[in-house]
Amino acid sequence: MKAIELENLLKEMSLEEKVMQLVQVPGSVYAKDSATTGILQETVPEKVRRLAGSTLGIMDGGKIRDIQDEYMKHHPHHIPLLFMLDVIHGHKTVFPCPLGQGATFDPDLTEQAAAIQAEEAAADGVHVTFSPMADLVRDARWGRVMESTGEDPLLNGRMAAAMVRGYQGPDLKDGRHVASCVKHFAAYGAAEGGRDYNNTELSEHTLRDSYLPAYQEAIQAGARMVMSSFNSWNGIPVTGSEWLMKKILREEMGFEGVTISDWDAIGQLIPHGYAEDLEDAARKAMRAGVDIDMTTGAYAGYLEKLVREGRLPESELDKAVLRILTLKNDLGLFENPCRGLTEHLPVHTPEEKHALARKAAAESLVLLKNEDGVLPLKAKKLAFIGPYAMSRDLHSTWAINPDRAQGVSVWDAAQEMLPEAGVEVRAAQGCDMVEDGTGLSFFVYHDADQREKNQKWMAEALEAAAWADTAVLCLGEHLLQSGESTSRAKLTLPPCQLELLRRVKEVCGKVIVLLFCGRPLEVAQMADHASALVVCWRPGTEGGHGILDVLTGKVPPSGCLPMSFPHTVGQEPLHYDEYATGRPRPSEGNDMFTSRYLDCANSALFPFGFGLSYGKAEISPVELSGSELREGEHLTARAFLTNHGDEKAAHTVQLYIQDLVGSRVRPVRQLRDFRRVLLEPGETREIAFRIEEPMLRFWRADQTYGSEPGRFRVWISLNSRDGDPVEFRLC
Ligand code: BGC
Repeated sequence: MKAIELENLLKEMSLEEKVMQLVQVPGSVYAKDSATTGILQETVPEKVRRLAGSTLGIMDGGKIRDIQDEYMKHHPHHIPLLFMLDVIHGHKTVFPCPLGQGATFDPDLTEQAAAIQAEEAAADGVHVTFSPMADLVRDARWGRVMESTGEDPLLNGRMAAAMVRGYQGPDLKDGRHVASCVKHFAAYGAAEGGRDYNNTELSEHTLRDSYLPAYQEAIQAGARMVMSSFNSWNGIPVTGSEWLMKKILREEMGFEGVTISDWDAIGQLIPHGYAEDLEDAARKAMRAGVDIDMTTGAYAGYLEKLVREGRLPESELDKAVLRILTLKNDLGLFENPCRGLTEHLPVHTPEEKHALARKAAAESLVLLKNEDGVLPLKAKKLAFIGPYAMSRDLHSTWAINPDRAQGVSVWDAAQEMLPEAGVEVRAAQGCDMVEDGTGLSFFVYHDADQREKNQKWMAEALEAAAWADTAVLCLGEHLLQSGESTSRAKLTLPPCQLELLRRVKEVCGKVIVLLFCGRPLEVAQMADHASALVVCWRPGTEGGHGILDVLTGKVPPSGCLPMSFPHTVGQEPLHYDEYATGRPRPSEGNDMFTSRYLDCANSALFPFGFGLSYGKAEISPVELSGSELREGEHLTARAFLTNHGDEKAAHTVQLYIQDLVGSRVRPVRQLRDFRRVLLEPGETREIAFRIEEPMLRFWRADQTYGSEPGRFRVWISLNSRDGDPVEFRLC
């Protein structure tokens, strides 16, 4: 349809019909086994069921087709229903969780993975995915860090944009792509104390400099939707904030697409203490600029009344409806309401999808320690021990409907790949994944005879460990310990897993720990006991293969931490790009009246950007092409990376800059660019980065964006802590 036809359609619609375009009902209204709970299912009036503009959480193509066919029969203007779903890191084929994808520092790979997810979801009738989550995260206590790509604005922005490009492709109409909804706007990741849904108190300059850029990148990449977040920001719930949703999002960021509240977020304006009742909540959210009400029924119940009473302008409603009609039209729904379902469109073969998931899993691994070159594996007798050794649950709670039969555990891959290389393998469970007191007893079934079972598992594990030359301990958080509403005040593994590590170490000299997790954990004890420590995140369908590829040396490890790993939870929130303070802790010594902990370092145990590879990399001092940068010109910063080892090495070379003096204090370092490099043994590569004035801009004291003349420091390094800087001056 042409734009003018959409406008004519809008004119023909009744007020009730228009209101209903702004209403999203849970999938359970139409399909009882959808991914959504049925809070509105029993109460939703028939007219809402028949006229609601969108629904979420239905995963089955056959059902979507039946629902759409039935819906179209009754809709007065034959406007198709829009189907949305959380396709976060996989629909059928699951890729590493977003935090794992952040660790790859490989936006191209993420874009390809997103394209496959879109293709699979579109083939099941899905039109919109609630992804990417572009929230910046600095607090590992927050369970949703797993859904983000980490603590750095630049990395997050590149990853979010890559996801948007991958999901949406060059043409939304082609039936192989889905529209992307960026979430959760804004600053949801800064929840106080890392407690989910908690309020956010954040200065405007930190919001603008650190939290907004990734949403902005996603919008610039063309994201068609934005979701408003649950949290309040500086006292105003975002879903009712005109300043954020209109002034910042629409006026400053130039977003022209559809906005939607998070689940029940409009209703939550009441417990926030910001709205009197649902009617007041509907009015405040609509005024703030939230186009679609996800599941509360506030818009369905009150928008018509508010317009008729003159308390909301109909023109506001019309604009929102037109945006939704435009999205439906751009998706090709008016021509084919069952797009994606009616013809066989996929371009990726199952083999290609699995190969990419395997590559992504391998690239997401972060090698934190490798003592005496225990990796790549040299052992001839290997025991795979621990609750993750045989587990195929390597996805996350946000892979809602994965193809479980395709999942490859570490043990599956070990059996497939190692015996043919002359390696003997054994496996043992060792212990349970969780113990009581994890807050999961509601979900996780515990056998009454768990104690006895654990004793038996421990005995079997110790026997296998004593037999082996090397034990590969597969430890980690339970699947349900990261994701939404999984905040933790402790960042440790359960005692049974640490006990397993200690006892295995007593009988087997060499221990490699594979750590499966959705967040940074306290890993000091693991790093002390183990010869090697590898963070595997939640690696997805091909996790087992990807991990074995790295352990055997087929693929050199290349992942870097997208979030700082603390010594202890007491350091959280923790991020490398902090402000210096007036009494910075000296790099050497431990002077009394400086900004420090009495009992812990300030810095991370493993900093942002850190990750080892095989080979032996050495980076030369950074060189600058000049000492002054003038408007419209650029400087080149370069360094040489050499692999002195006998194995291939893969690293992400990182460019950091510090603005030494500003009208506002500036972070001690900021990532400004990065490049992945693969080096053969003995190879040297030159890495060059351009430094330009726009990279140096920030929200200045005079409330404008811009750079300020003065001194800057530049590092080229392999993580956010190391390296010696050189200086230049911006004139
Ligand atoms: C989450 C969103 C998600 C939505 C729909 C909410 O609880 O916060 O991230 O997209 O549910 O499933």
